[in-house]
Amino acid sequence: CDVVVLISGSGSNLQALIDSTTGCDHPARICAVVSNRADAFGLERARRAGIETRVLDHKAYADREAFDAALIEVIDAFSPHLVVLAGFMRILTPGFVRHYQGRLLNIHPSLLPKYKGLHTHQRALEAGDTEHGCSVHFVTEELDGGPLVVQAVIPVQSDDTPESLAQRVHVQEHRIYPLAMRWFAEDRLRLTPTGAELDGQEL
Ligand code: GRF
Repeated sequence: CDVVVLISGSGSNLQALIDSTTGCDHPARICAVVSNRADAFGLERARRAGIETRVLDHKAYADREAFDAALIEVIDAFSPHLVVLAGFMRILTPGFVRHYQGRLLNIHPSLLPKYKGLHTHQRALEAGDTEHGCSVHFVTEELDGGPLVVQAVIPVQSDDTPESLAQRVHVQEHRIYPLAMRWFAEDRLRLTPTGAELDGQEL
């Protein structure tokens, strides 16, 4: 299973995905990493792992449609089975999402459907939540709204700050994203008309 990973930043999730595949017979192979920012540290991580990289600066395009069309071209040159969003900080057009329907995964730092969008750790703290976490989901046209694949839950501590929470959530992200990618690569995970399925069981 060939995978293209899209990033915008540090790429710690990308690193976890890379590390998870560098065993002997992992069914997924990350064939390319695409960033919309030339200075994303994740690009360096990809280069170190010998993975091809591409940079597509969204500011060079007139609108989202033009950027997403160019992005599709770059991605499809690698003919991936799966496209993984790992801290890719651009909202994707419905056309892009439809193009990769059923083979586009995202990770979000909250227990979806809670806290779609940004500043999730701060919002969880402000709400007084006792639990927080992260979610892997199939991407659909609704932002952070597609069917859930796997979540990790952590307890919120009384002295937590957005930073300390983010740090502990990240540890969990690095655990569940490789898991979801492996399920997909093993052909165990699929998007259905009503949700997501693992080993034929609705999630
Ligand atoms: C993660 O918190 C992820 O949930 C969100 O963006 C962040 C990316 O972090 N979508 P990194 O670049 O993988 O370190």
